Amino acid sequence: MTVIDSKTQGLRAGAVEERRTSYDSFAVSTLTPHLGAEIEGLDLSQPLSSEQQHDIRQVFTDWGVLVFRNQVLDREAHKRFGRYFGTLHVHPMNYARDTDPEVLIVKTTANSPYTAGDAWHSDVTCEAIPPLGSALYITETPECGGGDTLYADMCLAYELLSPAMQSFLEGLSAVHDGAIPYVDNYNSTPPEGGYPRNEHPVITVHPESGRKVLNVNSGFTSHIRGLRKWESRSLLDSLYDFVATTPKLHCRVQWEPNTLTLWDNRWTQHHAVWDYYPHSRYGERVSIIGTERPAGVLA
Ligand code: SIN
Repeated sequence: MTVIDSKTQGLRAGAVEERRTSYDSFAVSTLTPHLGAEIEGLDLSQPLSSEQQHDIRQVFTDWGVLVFRNQVLDREAHKRFGRYFGTLHVHPMNYARDTDPEVLIVKTTANSPYTAGDAWHSDVTCEAIPPLGSALYITETPECGGGDTLYADMCLAYELLSPAMQSFLEGLSAVHDGAIPYVDNYNSTPPEGGYPRNEHPVITVHPESGRKVLNVNSGFTSHIRGLRKWESRSLLDSLYDFVATTPKLHCRVQWEPNTLTLWDNRWTQHHAVWDYYPHSRYGERVSIIGTERPAGVLA
């Protein structure tokens, strides 16, 4: 029997295929060879030219997690940046908020019962069309350090699976349920009709790069359709363990005040690390509505 070990198969399977590192409008320094880039030379408090917007969309497709340092942004500038990628999303926990419902407050203090996003997840995958990306602007970081965000490359996660597991997962779909984080973990009162709950393929195809993506996450996925309950639970837990314990999938953003990070929610997951209690961290997030339902391989 041949056992394919993702540790030895390594990045060859992850094919760091020709990926651009040079753009006309700004300088880029990559965080890892496959995921994440810091962008230098743009002031996001000012509107971007059409050439800059074009290059930003390209670098977003190429690198998935974009970090912009030393940005002084008001809410309008933050939202304008999000709108370069599409229409802004209203988070289901913000439905009842009457001022700036497009802005999600990400605030943790010594009195917080939880910190948002403290588990591997993609944002709001319970929606029929989940956000294509989110832009988090952090203005207050914990005074003793910490509060980083980890990101995982879910295309590479797919590519490191054995061919047998890849083809098994390609035929499956899973349920993503907003009640898991928002009610079970955050104890929030659901809107009328409840939080969204939708089914998505377990392996999706990224609409711009065409790469395949492992699309289940511990934040929202309740079960895989068509499997016994125990089969679904153990398969999901194995996949989550794989993502959490495979450092080559990850990049890490260490925040400084006035850092904006944009991530592609369709091929990355993230985990906000709450290692700074009793200190505080503050930021605001906008997300961008996706353009289509996540497509499976067989679509
Ligand atoms: C989130 O959007 O899940 C929160 C990320 C973070 O606070 O770093």
